[in-house]
Amino acid sequence: MLNKLVTWSIIVIAVSVIGNRQSSTQQTASDNPLSWNLLVPDSASLARGWEFPRDPRVDTTGLSPQVALQVLRGFLLFTDTYAQAERFAGGKVTCNHCHPNGGQREKALPLVGVDKVFPEYNPRSGRLFTLEERIVGCMLRSINATGRMNQHVVLHHENELDGATLSPVSGEIQDLAAYIRWLSWNRDIDSTLPWRGQNTLPASARIPLEKLDSRLGQQLFLEKCANCHGEDGQGMFIGDKRPGPLWGPESWNDGAGAARTYTLAGFILNWMPYMNPGSLTSEEAQHIAAYITSQPRPHFPYQDQDYLTAKIPVDAVYYKKLYSQNPLSKK
Ligand code: HEC
Ligand code: HEC
Repeated sequence: MLNKLVTWSIIVIAVSVIGNRQSSTQQTASDNPLSWNLLVPDSASLARGWEFPRDPRVDTTGLSPQVALQVLRGFLLFTDTYAQAERFAGGKVTCNHCHPNGGQREKALPLVGVDKVFPEYNPRSGRLFTLEERIVGCMLRSINATGRMNQHVVLHHENELDGATLSPVSGEIQDLAAYIRWLSWNRDIDSTLPWRGQNTLPASARIPLEKLDSRLGQQLFLEKCANCHGEDGQGMFIGDKRPGPLWGPESWNDGAGAARTYTLAGFILNWMPYMNPGSLTSEEAQHIAAYITSQPRPHFPYQDQDYLTAKIPVDAVYYKKLYSQNPLSKK
C-alpha cells in the first residue's frame, strides 16, 4: 500500500512538471483538423489524470485580471466541487469526476467548445437551454444539489428557476461557465465539434436491457474496477484523487444522465479501467453499467417534471415508475 502511494506521488510530480511545460505552448484547432491536441487522448491512463491542456493556474495570458480570477474560480469549482460549491454539493462528486482533465479528455464528455452549441434544445426539459442552464442541470442532478435542499438553499427543477438559489445567475454557475467558455477562447473553434458525442454507445452495440446481467456486471466490477473504486463502489484515495462514489448517498442522483445505463456504459467503455482504457468490450461495459445502475442512489425529487414532451429513454431505469404515467412512454 505504501509502495503504491509512493509510486502515485512520483507519477503526480512527474505529470505536473510535464503538464506545466505542455500548457505553455499555444495551439489552435486549425493546427490539427481533428484538434485532438486540445485534449488528452483517450488512450492516456491515470498517470495523465492530473494533466490540463489549458490550466488557468499556469497561464491566463490575454485575460483581464478580473476575468482571469473568475476562470480560476471556475476551474477550482470544477475540480473540487464539493469543497468549493459546498452549499450545492449533495455528495462527494466533482465535475471533474465525469469530465476528466478539466473537461479536456477525448471521448470522456469533453467540454471544449460546447459553449458554441448552446442554446440547444433539451429533450428532457422540452425547451432551449443556455450553457448556464445546462450547468444548473448537472449541478442539480450529477452533483446532487437537491440533496442539500434546506431553508437556506432553495432549489427547483430547471424549468422553474425563478426564485431559486441555484440558477443561471448564481456566482458558482457564472464562474463554471466562464471556465468552460475560456477552454475555447482565442481558438479556431466553431459549433461543429468533431470530439462531441464520441463516447456514446452506438445503437447497434446496445444489448436489450432485459438481457443485461447485473450479477455478471458485479463480477466484472470486482475484477476490473474495485482496486480503485473499492468493493463497495465508494472509491479510495489515489494521491489527491478519490474515484467514485459510484452509488449510495454520496453519489449522483437518479435524475442524472450518468444514471442511465447506456449513457454510463458508453462512458465506461471509452475511459475505464483507468490504467488500461479501451480494454473492455462493449458487452462488458454494459453489464457493469447495469450493475452500477441497479444500485441505490439519492432520489431527484423533480423526476415527474422531466420528459413531459418526450418519451422517457428506455435506459432511464430509475424512471420506471413514471413510464406508465408518461403518455408517450406507455407501451
Ligand atoms: C456523474 C457524472 C457527471 C458529473 C459529476 C457532471 N456531469 Fe456534466 N454531464 C454528464 C453527462 C452524462 C452529460 C451528457 C448529457 C447527459 O446525458 O446528461 C453531461 C453534460 C454536460 C454538459 C453539456 C455538454 C454537451 O456536450 O452538451 C455540460 C456543460 C456539463 N455537463 C457541465 C458539468 C459541470 C459544470 C459539472 C459540475 C458542476 C458537471 N457537468 C458534472 C455527467 C456528469
Ligand atoms: C486505476 C484506477 C481505476 C480503475 C481500475 C478504475 N477507475 Fe474509474 N475512476 C478512477 C479515477 C481516479 C476516477 C476519477 C477521475 C478524476 O477525478 O480525474 C474515476 C472515475 C470513474 C467514473 C466517473 C464517476 C466518478 O464518480 O468517479 C466512473 C463511472 C468510473 N470511474 C467507473 C469505473 C469502472 C466501471 C471501472 C472498471 C471497469 C473503473 N472505473 C476502473 C480510477 C479508476
